[in-house]
Amino acid sequence: MKLEDLIAKRLGTGTRGARSLLLGGRVTVGGTITTDHRRPVSRFEEVVCDGAIVQAATGRLHLMLHKPAGILSATSDPVHRTVLDLIDHPDKATLHLAGRLDRSSTGLVLLTNDGTWSEALSDPTAKVEKVYLVATDRSIPDEAVARFAEGFWFATEGLTTRPARLEILEERLARVTLVEGRYHQIKRMFHRLDGIRLTSLHRERVGPYLLPDDLAPEQWRVIAGID
Ligand code: URA
Repeated sequence: MKLEDLIAKRLGTGTRGARSLLLGGRVTVGGTITTDHRRPVSRFEEVVCDGAIVQAATGRLHLMLHKPAGILSATSDPVHRTVLDLIDHPDKATLHLAGRLDRSSTGLVLLTNDGTWSEALSDPTAKVEKVYLVATDRSIPDEAVARFAEGFWFATEGLTTRPARLEILEERLARVTLVEGRYHQIKRMFHRLDGIRLTSLHRERVGPYLLPDDLAPEQWRVIAGID
């Protein structure tokens, strides 16, 4: 929202009144006098006029959760338990997911009340790496490495998947690094290799956020140090 609209709405001044307060140097955003009426202002910023709070700053909140299998990556659902049901935080109602995992998948799920943060993590042009450990029902052929790097044509979406890194760790165990998150992406990629099916899929990392070894399934914690 633009600063002038916030002031006009909260103080009932109308747009002209808001501009006049701003030009008079009577408004601060985050403690700094601001005269630009078009300045975008988020709910994370405190706005003060003549010493009175027009908008209190909402705190940014970022969480990581170790999702167990069987839990839905959603904030509410009439049937299944969701990731939000596992979180006990006073501000949990403000949270949304920064990327989903399939119900059968496990591992790192990030939640936040900050849309800018979650959009940056899921923006395909930003090439944020998502790293998964996968187990398969059959041997993974060596040629899979090149196939993952080349990309697969996904007719439903009308696109070729971006180059992905596949490291074969054992006959039926691999680490996959993606920079995007299409629906059932890894399952669909393996299925193209003679119908290989996954027996487990576990997300270890999203960008700089690594699932800590001491965060057990169903546990969550606040991520500190992000402004
Ligand atoms: N790819 C999948 O197929 N499932 C997930 O949960 C994540 C990536």
